[in-house]
Amino acid sequence: MNLLKPLKLLFLLAAALAIGGCASHNYGDEQYRLRMAIAGKDILWVPSKLDMVHKMLDAAQVTRQDIVYDLGSGDGIIPIEAARKYGVRAVGIEYNPDLVALSQRNAQRAQLESLVSFKRGDIFVEDFSQATVVTLYLGEALNAKLMPRLLNMRPGTRVVSNIFRIESWTPDQIIRSDSGDQAFLWTVPARVEGRWSFGELPGLPKLSVQIRQKKQFFDAQVFVDGARIALIEDGKIAGSRLSLDFSRGNTRYQIQGEVQGQQFVGLLNGTVRVNGTLSP
Ligand SMILES: C[S@@+](CC[C@H](N)C(=O)[O-])C[C@H]1O[C@@H](n2cnc3c(N)ncnc32)[C@H](O)[C@@H]1O
Repeated sequence: MNLLKPLKLLFLLAAALAIGGCASHNYGDEQYRLRMAIAGKDILWVPSKLDMVHKMLDAAQVTRQDIVYDLGSGDGIIPIEAARKYGVRAVGIEYNPDLVALSQRNAQRAQLESLVSFKRGDIFVEDFSQATVVTLYLGEALNAKLMPRLLNMRPGTRVVSNIFRIESWTPDQIIRSDSGDQAFLWTVPARVEGRWSFGELPGLPKLSVQIRQKKQFFDAQVFVDGARIALIEDGKIAGSRLSLDFSRGNTRYQIQGEVQGQQFVGLLNGTVRVNGTLSP
């Protein structure tokens, strides 16, 4: 079944609701009068509401060091608000050339053109790998299509989606607006699946940990000197931060640190330096 048709109907319904209680800025101008549900490529244009835009960017903890990309940027509300409120660089990718031109004029009117730019293009073709924050308001089918690329982004990249979830990827946070709408936040996890060797540590000779990863969640088996001493269940990776908590006999151990590619650098029980190497 073609999933886009029901989604377009859903957007028409959303548009009708938005017209009824329109809580969004109207960024239309004399050159391009906006009306709801303007044709995009894979989904129609319906704007995010301003209070939700702020809630989404707040939840993503946007700072000046970030680069925000809005995929399917419509009238430019998300990149413009990101630059205005957080002083952050922001990019919109939008297929409809009239919306791109309008967004550019909106950015100029807000005197934010040094921070904000818009690119006319297809989000399934354009490169957005520079982003540290990705915003979406696209629908479930398009989110699902984007998921492999999103999961491949730099660990720690935040992804925020207005209204729609991303298929099987459990959100790290549910964001609720005052009007009862929902958005979802995810942080791209580092890839940690495989066998980590940590070498010799106090009380833990020849420590290695076999990790099985499901997106930001993992479980692991802990080996000392070749013997399994512990299981870790329901572990969670926070971007590039990995924490391994386990016991040997009555002694508790915690290894916490950062994953950088195939390497781990951290501390055992907050004091002893730990280096680890991943072999798949
Ligand atoms: C629901 S609107 C969201 C607009 C904006 N992100 C916001 O939150 O207000 C979706 C936008 O995606 C655009 N779009 C649809 N398919 C696209 C594609 N393949 N590449 C780029 N933009 C696309 C549409 O033109 C529309 O402006």
